[in-house]
Amino acid sequence: MKTTGFSAGCLFFGLSCFYFMVPSNGDISYSIPEEMKIGSVIGNLAKDLWINAKTLSMRKSRLDVDDEGKRYCDIDMKTGDLTVADRIDREGLCGFTTVCVLKYEVILENPMEMHRIVVEITDINDNSPSFSKDVVKLEIRESAVKGARYAISEAQDADIGTNSVQNYKLQDNAYFLFKFHNNPGQEKYGELILENELDREREQEVRLLLIAMDGGNSPRSGSVSIHITVLDANDNSPVFSKSVYKVRLREDAPLGTTVATLNATDADEGANGKVIYEFGHISSDLREVFTLESETGNLILNANVDYERQTTYELKVECKDGAGLASFAKVVIDIDDVNDNAPTIQLKSLNDPIPENTPPGSEVSIISVQDRDSEKNRQIRCIIHGDVPFVLKQSIKNYFSIVTTGELDREFISDYNLTITATDEGTPPLSSSKTVHISVSDVNDNAPVFEKQNYNAFVTENNRPGTSISFVTASDPDWMQNGTVLYTLVPTVVHDTKVSSFLSINADTGVIHAVRSFDYEKFRNFNVQVIARDNGSPPLSSNVTVSVFITDENDNSPQILYPAPDEKSLMTEMVPKAALSGSLVSKVIAVDADSGQNSWLSYQIVKSTDSGLFSIGLHSGEIRALRDITESDSMKQNLVIAVKDNGQSPLSATCFVYLLISDNLSEVPELKDMANEESNSKLTFYLIIALVSVSTFFLTFIILIVALKFCQRRKPRLLFDGAVTFPSAYLPPNYAEVDGAGTLRSSYNYDGYLTTGSRTSDFKFITYNDCTSTSGTLKKSPDDSNIISLFDSGDSQKVWCSTLLAYYFAFIVFVVV
Ligand SMILES: *[C@@H]1O[C@H](CO)[C@@H](O)[C@H](O)[C@H]1NC(C)=O
Ligand SMILES: *[C@@H]1O[C@H](CO)[C@@H](O)[C@H](O)[C@H]1NC(C)=O
Ligand SMILES: *[C@@H]1O[C@H](CO)[C@@H](O)[C@H](O)[C@H]1NC(C)=O
Repeated sequence: MKTTGFSAGCLFFGLSCFYFMVPSNGDISYSIPEEMKIGSVIGNLAKDLWINAKTLSMRKSRLDVDDEGKRYCDIDMKTGDLTVADRIDREGLCGFTTVCVLKYEVILENPMEMHRIVVEITDINDNSPSFSKDVVKLEIRESAVKGARYAISEAQDADIGTNSVQNYKLQDNAYFLFKFHNNPGQEKYGELILENELDREREQEVRLLLIAMDGGNSPRSGSVSIHITVLDANDNSPVFSKSVYKVRLREDAPLGTTVATLNATDADEGANGKVIYEFGHISSDLREVFTLESETGNLILNANVDYERQTTYELKVECKDGAGLASFAKVVIDIDDVNDNAPTIQLKSLNDPIPENTPPGSEVSIISVQDRDSEKNRQIRCIIHGDVPFVLKQSIKNYFSIVTTGELDREFISDYNLTITATDEGTPPLSSSKTVHISVSDVNDNAPVFEKQNYNAFVTENNRPGTSISFVTASDPDWMQNGTVLYTLVPTVVHDTKVSSFLSINADTGVIHAVRSFDYEKFRNFNVQVIARDNGSPPLSSNVTVSVFITDENDNSPQILYPAPDEKSLMTEMVPKAALSGSLVSKVIAVDADSGQNSWLSYQIVKSTDSGLFSIGLHSGEIRALRDITESDSMKQNLVIAVKDNGQSPLSATCFVYLLISDNLSEVPELKDMANEESNSKLTFYLIIALVSVSTFFLTFIILIVALKFCQRRKPRLLFDGAVTFPSAYLPPNYAEVDGAGTLRSSYNYDGYLTTGSRTSDFKFITYNDCTSTSGTLKKSPDDSNIISLFDSGDSQKVWCSTLLAYYFAFIVFVVV
């Protein structure tokens, strides 16, 4: 149908078809006759567009019609056919225009495509010729000469081309011929030409029938009867001043405006010279728009005209004198456009929402902007208001794409209301606006961020397992699961143990729980890493370090290093009988594994043989004589010492200190017991017995000599004063002893130290390491210099060595003797 209809039309209207032979680029043309049945197929659009018919509905293909325009065609989504959707009446659509076309735009989305299709409506012979009147009345004087002409208005046929009026036939008669004037550019009319003179006396009235015929395949015809009254006199026809009156009229002209004034003159006088004006053959629609004042010839505007509906009007007018002689003219009214239509903005397609990672330059939406005015009044400028990352790009004709210009960030702006304003260039310009709502959808582009750079958690030792010790918080501004944060611990190893056996974290809340009970004395701090991960795919994460500090609790009681806390210990301190008030007798040494306040120790004598004889330094643990020792004091003095730490709920330990007030080892009764215990070998036992007796003998001897010497020099207490002093070099470096209140300022534990000055420890070699291995709770200090061994002071050593040598020498002499 596309080609056949087309070529048939071309046969007859070569000129107009030429226009169609060269359609604008990409246009698809169809040609169909008017009045086809609804549903008839015009052509296969899918095939002509090279599109698979199945994708038509998927791509939302549609015919784009002006909002006021009527839809005559439609697309059959199943077959891809273009079908007739409404009655197409060529005459109703296009009137007398030779070329009648329907123009559509086919819009396809995904990707966006636009095709123009042109459907030419060809004429069929569906209208008969008709005359403006049924009867034309003429009055002709009998004096009219042969060849006189009388104008008859032509017949009209709404069809065009061959289907319009092609010829006239006048009924056979004795007087008249009919001639039709059909000169291009001039008013068409027919004339009755008098061939044989009339004779009023023979025939007063002549009746003729004029038939107009069109040239359709099955021709149609219309007729008018002409009544001619034969008159007596002769006169002049009225004459219009112009054959065509051309006027311009603004489309917004008010009702009642005089559009034009017709003027015709008649040379006759009286009734024969009086001219009246009438419309010729015009449609009833036009009669409603314009009225012609028959007396004055004023053409008055009776209804509003609209340039957008019709741009020119052609009115046939005639003037007549009283005798019925008439002449014809034409009024051509050109309507001037006025900017009375604001542009209309239509949203043709919209991708909503758009993901925030849409690259700049992406097409988001397509709008079409139409203005029904013409020329400058339909020139449109279109802008988007506000500071938004979108611009309009003109794509085809009046189609604009909304295109992104920059990066979008949903976390910053999640939706846009784009206000688009279209303004035409008329004076004054008209504009209209439309708001397009575009929302931005989320993409997982933000990693969770912790509120702090790092976290510190403090937990007191001996905590209950399961206690919450801290919490971390991370925030992620993304949407829904892309912003949902889950917390996990990095599975590292701290202090040779998996971190999961120390801590656990609540994945949702970030609260960190201790899994086990901590011991400050084992370790004081450790670091763990917490990862915050969102739920997007792929997920994003960040991590933070949580430092866990274990704080001390007073859970270790003081450990007494000296004297050995064992109650059965036979360690006895010898106190010289001549000890004066304030002299140092012994020292209790204790340590506490806790730290700070919890390890500050204080010493107290809780029980003593003679309460007034000895005192202990509250913080130093030094036992000193309160007064000079006298002969009356008991030789054996026992003290019970309590050592207490300074914790909230203090812990304490006690020990026994046995003091022997004596200057002589032989006076020590308990020594025998000790020897019993320490010796298993009988030989050794006897040797010792021998040694002791020999020693006693010689000692008495030597003491006598020494006493003799000393008495001469008057120098008492030579041996013992030096023996009980504490050389400060033996104190560990981190031990601080403070005068006055005697509080310890060092924040460290006592790392342990020993005292000497005891006769009974003469042969003992005591090291710090021995103490730790027995106590089991004391930590080895990292500083090896703290590990010390103590001997007696060098001076006393020499004295004792020489004494021993003397013993052995005496013994050998004795044996030999
Ligand atoms: C856009 O308009 C809608 C409805 O008028 C409103 O609810 C919304 O808040 C607006 N958004 C912005 C970003 O202005
Ligand atoms: C999360 O982000 C992904 C892309 O990273 C996106 O496809 C998804 O729609 C987002 N989810 C939500 C709830 O917005
Ligand atoms: C923690 O974050 C740093 C830098 O942000 C990264 O280099 C490291 O790999 C992360 N550690 C873990 C265990 O994810």
